[in-house]
Amino acid sequence: MELETTIIDEDRAALEGASGAPKKVFVKTYGCQMNVYDSQRMTDALAADGYVSTEAMDDADLVLLNTCHIREKAADKVYSVLGRLRDLKSERADAGRDLTIGVAGCVAQAEGGEILRRSPSVDLVVGPQTYHRLPEMLAKVRNGEKVVETEYAIEDKFEHLPQPRRAEVIKRGVTAFLTVQEGCDKFCTFCVVPYTRGSEVSRPVRQIVAEAERLAEAGVREVTLLGQNVNAWHGEGPDGSEWGLGRLLHRLAEIKGLARLRYTTSHPRDMDEDLIAAHRDLDALMPYLHLPVQSGSDRILKAMNRRHKASDYLRLIERVRGARADIAMSGDFIVGFPGETEADFEATMQIVREVGYASAFSFKYSPRPGTPGAEMDGHLPEEVKDERLQRLQALLTEQQQDFTRGMVGRTMATLIEKAGRQAGQKVGRSPWLQPVIIDEMAAEIGDIIDVRITKTGYNSLFAEPA
Ligand code: SAH
Ligand code: SF4
Ligand code: F3S
Repeated sequence: MELETTIIDEDRAALEGASGAPKKVFVKTYGCQMNVYDSQRMTDALAADGYVSTEAMDDADLVLLNTCHIREKAADKVYSVLGRLRDLKSERADAGRDLTIGVAGCVAQAEGGEILRRSPSVDLVVGPQTYHRLPEMLAKVRNGEKVVETEYAIEDKFEHLPQPRRAEVIKRGVTAFLTVQEGCDKFCTFCVVPYTRGSEVSRPVRQIVAEAERLAEAGVREVTLLGQNVNAWHGEGPDGSEWGLGRLLHRLAEIKGLARLRYTTSHPRDMDEDLIAAHRDLDALMPYLHLPVQSGSDRILKAMNRRHKASDYLRLIERVRGARADIAMSGDFIVGFPGETEADFEATMQIVREVGYASAFSFKYSPRPGTPGAEMDGHLPEEVKDERLQRLQALLTEQQQDFTRGMVGRTMATLIEKAGRQAGQKVGRSPWLQPVIIDEMAAEIGDIIDVRITKTGYNSLFAEPA
């Protein structure tokens, strides 16, 4: 399909409305970091189409909900917001002003036209693979059409989305996300991602390097590479050889100004030797690894189709720690997967004790339509899931607290991200992703400065210049 990027005059007039003021877009983001990244890129695409972004939903001409389908609660949230938007839209109609409502993201991909049936005030449903066609779709909406676009686009959306704009990058601060891989071929039996994001696609090296350079030129010091399965990223390097994520990180570390690199989320099966070695060899690669295991029980891991055993995971962590002793581990856990016994759950508690997490996310299993898990026998009562989640979270919180408290007295490099609430105060980020609050320090945003940790809060650190 031909891509329309120039705005014809009638469109411009429609965009600007009678008053000549530019149209305003409010984007609300749910779900994971990839949605955060996508929302930024949609904002960039809409800016090229004449929209300015607003922080106030009530003030917007276009509201875009960038949705998440991962658990039932996440998906339900969308419909309650759509209810509110329907009321806003009819108030607007009475006042003679339009409101365009768009649903993007993983609920859009999973439910498609069903969203229009449940919420007729929605004008546009757009799946994650077609964001580069947003201007074209909005032109159709202005012509009175309802648009549902959930086909996987043949053309590469990243090739067609406008580059992040310098002014926006500066506004967003000294840390940035960069999606390098999208989709997933793993088909864990609980998970909707392979259905909502499609099969695994890696962005080419030159595209990633160009975007990282652009971010660095705009003052970004820390880049987090994103993918549903980021360590499955692979691509052809400029030398014609096949690169993995380890090699890519080496290349990005050469970019002037980029001092810190991170990546998320990884699957244990795709942690290769090169990537582990990068943790040893690259100072820029931060000592923090989010490596979800979901369960500590081999039986449940098998039912989840994770395709590794608990012992494989533990051995892997040993190797990673062998490469970088101070690496902090983070993970995701699901409790109450169908058929999970008390013994299976105890195995999860045990793996948590063995690993020792600096941070973690834990969830009650939520059956998702269309996934194999939803069809399995042995679904557990909500009370059992609740009770197990409480026990797991108590243990994880304790570990996180120990990790945080262990920082007192240490000196560490901190990336200064913004001014604090009090005069002279700065807020930065530790190598382990903790917020660091420093009173009275002469430093510029974007500086990386050694500070000494004096005390801790729940998750944040308080420091003085070292
Ligand atoms: N690609 C990542 C996970 C992405 S989804 C990985 O393989 O680890 C983020 C997290 O949401 C998952 O790690 C899992 O813990 C949780 N999750 C996914 N589907 C879920 C479901 N149906 N119910 C509860 N939690 C779920
Ligand atoms: Fe979902 Fe599994 Fe893919 Fe992660 S690896 S996105 S949990 S299917
Ligand atoms: Fe949610 Fe889609 Fe991310 S389902 S977690 S927004 S990939």
